[in-house]
Amino acid sequence: MVRPSAKHTSARLVLICVGLLGLALIADFLSASSPRFANSYISIASNWAPPLDISKPSLILTPKKTDDEVPEKGNHKNDTAHGRVLSATFADLPGPELKWENMAAAPVARLDGAAIQIKNLLFVFAGYGTIDYVHSHVDIYNFSDNTWGGRFDMPKEMAHSHLGMVTDGRYIYIVTGQYGPQCRGPTAHTFVLDTETKQWRDMPPLPVPRYAPATQLWRGRLHVMGGSKENRYTPGVDHWSLAVKDGKALEKEWRTEMPIPRGGPHRACIVVDDRLYLIGGQEGDFMAKPGSPIFKCSRRNEVVYGDVYMLDDEMKWKVLPPMPKPDSHIEFAWVVVNNSIVIVGGTTEKHPVTKKMTLVGEIFQFNLNTLNWSVLGKLPFRVKTTLVGFWNGWLYFTSGQRDKGPENPAPKKVIGELWRTKLKLSS
Ligand SMILES: *[C@@H]1O[C@H](CO)[C@@H](O)[C@H](O)[C@H]1NC(C)=O
Ligand SMILES: *[C@@H]1O[C@H](CO)[C@@H](O)[C@H](O)[C@H]1NC(C)=O
Ligand SMILES: *[C@@H]1O[C@H](CO)[C@@H](O)[C@H](O)[C@H]1NC(C)=O
Ligand SMILES: *[C@@H]1O[C@H](CO)[C@@H](O)[C@H](O)[C@H]1NC(C)=O
Repeated sequence: MVRPSAKHTSARLVLICVGLLGLALIADFLSASSPRFANSYISIASNWAPPLDISKPSLILTPKKTDDEVPEKGNHKNDTAHGRVLSATFADLPGPELKWENMAAAPVARLDGAAIQIKNLLFVFAGYGTIDYVHSHVDIYNFSDNTWGGRFDMPKEMAHSHLGMVTDGRYIYIVTGQYGPQCRGPTAHTFVLDTETKQWRDMPPLPVPRYAPATQLWRGRLHVMGGSKENRYTPGVDHWSLAVKDGKALEKEWRTEMPIPRGGPHRACIVVDDRLYLIGGQEGDFMAKPGSPIFKCSRRNEVVYGDVYMLDDEMKWKVLPPMPKPDSHIEFAWVVVNNSIVIVGGTTEKHPVTKKMTLVGEIFQFNLNTLNWSVLGKLPFRVKTTLVGFWNGWLYFTSGQRDKGPENPAPKKVIGELWRTKLKLSS
């Protein structure tokens, strides 16, 4: 998995060349409505591979070859200019191997859930169990005795995945998100949970529903930015805020704020030292297949990015150094430790030849003293949308979707596993 950097540079070149070729295919994706493309949607959707229960036929879709896809191996043209074929693991970055401890697994496996840490407790919400089944409850992990427990239900009207979520240390604000399984659209419903009493309350709904928006508390206001629009695909750049205090909205309506520079779902949104950061994410996502009564997921083109934007006193978006590689599906995959942001796993650009989704197997550190990114180390496997906590020197991650194996970074199993490693930051 660790690759010499010279190899990596040549992989970059290949990536650019093949990427240009890919533009033609992308155009096809976006304009497609003919049956030929309907087929290709279905086959590509198998990349998403959320199956937990592989006995469900709808989940094992055999990829069908169409002329807008290139088979994984065999007869595609080799990269003769460089005398090598791009390996499936082309996107892995070198980094230290870490010692990982496999802890008690969560009561359920979940994908695209959410997590909020309050002191020694990690509240883990919702998520897909399978593509056809979504959870509607909360599980709690106790870092002090390393056990799971305290399960309780979510309100029926609350979305089940792709939520915006943030805490003030007692109340958890839960914004919009996708309601239901497969690729249904988002709801505008918004809630607050008092973690001490386990009571839920309604909040004023967002002006319009959003899918996986960036959400943070900043200067007494709940901020919601970006995400995808109702179709799950079109990036939103809208930005709203609502004054809140102790789990109550102080206003009846959301205020429109300055739009964000780049829209889309699945990014990390973090406030440190009174500055608001937006990191990574993507434009585009899976959509419901047109006319499908179950809103069956079909894969569309996605552009993953590693951009970092920051808002401070000047109230103007500033561009900071980008991540070491594009990274998405990291909305709950971060912690802040010693003035560094630590980000775990995610997804990066798709493989330029096979077009498979590529997961990320590194932990990144963004040192806010130096604005320097580095690779802190390797995960036990590549994983996306994982849920992360930090306690007593240990970095924990649980849930999400892991890779097919060391040589295959495409997504496969939805997990409930919980892992930890001693975190050592670089200065
Ligand atoms: C591509 O490269 C592989 C390995 O070098 C080789 O075995 C294969 O014959 C090549 N295929 C083509 C179409 O050139
Ligand atoms: C977490 O574990 C500690 C140590 O066993 C215990 O004292 C505490 O009550 C637990 N917290 C919750 C909320 O269960
Ligand atoms: C940034 O981090 C990398 C990797 O740890 C290190 O080699 C480099 O010297 C650092 N640069 C600065 C300006 O701190
Ligand atoms: C954070 O800083 C404290 C104080 O300097 C240090 O003891 C601790 O080891 C640091 N934590 C990590 C994870 O590097």
